[in-house]
Amino acid sequence: TRVAGVVGQPIAHSMSPILHNAWLAAAGIDGVYAPFAVRPEAFETFVRGLRGGSVAGLNVTVPFKTMALSLADEVSDRARLAQAANVLVFRADGAILADNTDGLGLLAAFAVQAPGFEPAAAPVAILGAGGGARGAAAAFLSAGATDIRVINRTVARAEEIAADLGPTVRAYGLDQAGLAFAGVGALINATSAGLSGTGSLDLPIAATPETAVVMDMVYKPLLTPFLAQAQALGRHTVDGLEMLIGQAIPAFHAFFGQTPPTSVDVRTLAKQALG
Ligand code: ATR
Repeated sequence: TRVAGVVGQPIAHSMSPILHNAWLAAAGIDGVYAPFAVRPEAFETFVRGLRGGSVAGLNVTVPFKTMALSLADEVSDRARLAQAANVLVFRADGAILADNTDGLGLLAAFAVQAPGFEPAAAPVAILGAGGGARGAAAAFLSAGATDIRVINRTVARAEEIAADLGPTVRAYGLDQAGLAFAGVGALINATSAGLSGTGSLDLPIAATPETAVVMDMVYKPLLTPFLAQAQALGRHTVDGLEMLIGQAIPAFHAFFGQTPPTSVDVRTLAKQALG
């Protein structure tokens, strides 16, 4: 039996076990994917204890993505660029490999829900400056975007991302959002605002072109206040659940050695679990 899982805190409501176990069953693979609840102070010991490959690999989520990167022996280029790992693979020789499939997931979500969208065709605006925003900026940079605008409440954090990723990425404050939204092909919310129970964003989405695609990385609720605002303005939207599925597909391949079967509708399963 091949074992993989997801580690985070909190982890009880993670959608990842639903996706991976449905794929395992449909593919007839002798495998299991489990949620691991690990306290932050125990994370390093937990990961180091898995060296040797008894567990094939882990997805890593909040708040461990940066720590996961620092524990790895080998780091993929895209994980280094994002400065975060959402995938750890445990090789039989004891090595820990870190990768980041969040960027692939983000671009896959656009490909599925906004077919024809071209990431390099127009400027992109990214809200936030945490790990999610950094990963999104790195993904669009890798996809050939030439004008990436990172907008954050704390401008200094956006400036750090711009300094790390180069002149294609520029930093803006929330008061400059209208300016930063002009002419964009995509607007992405990578802040934690909009998560159930947190304050929602009040930004001039109307300043984006009518053709702009609006995306939210938050998927609880699936239709966030931000996406609802965008839809009310007639904007096409992409949701965070599709990104979650998009990052899980290459992770499944890394853990179980094959592409997940398309015969199972994991999106519907996850939506049912979200309620
Ligand atoms: P991540 O999970 O992506 O690593 P994080 O580091 O916790 O995220 O950062 C959360 C992001 O949401 C930050 O960009 C934060 O802005 P600050 O850097 O100014 O703190 C942003 N954020 C959270 N709540 C917000 C709110 N109510 N309005 C605007 N931005 C908010």
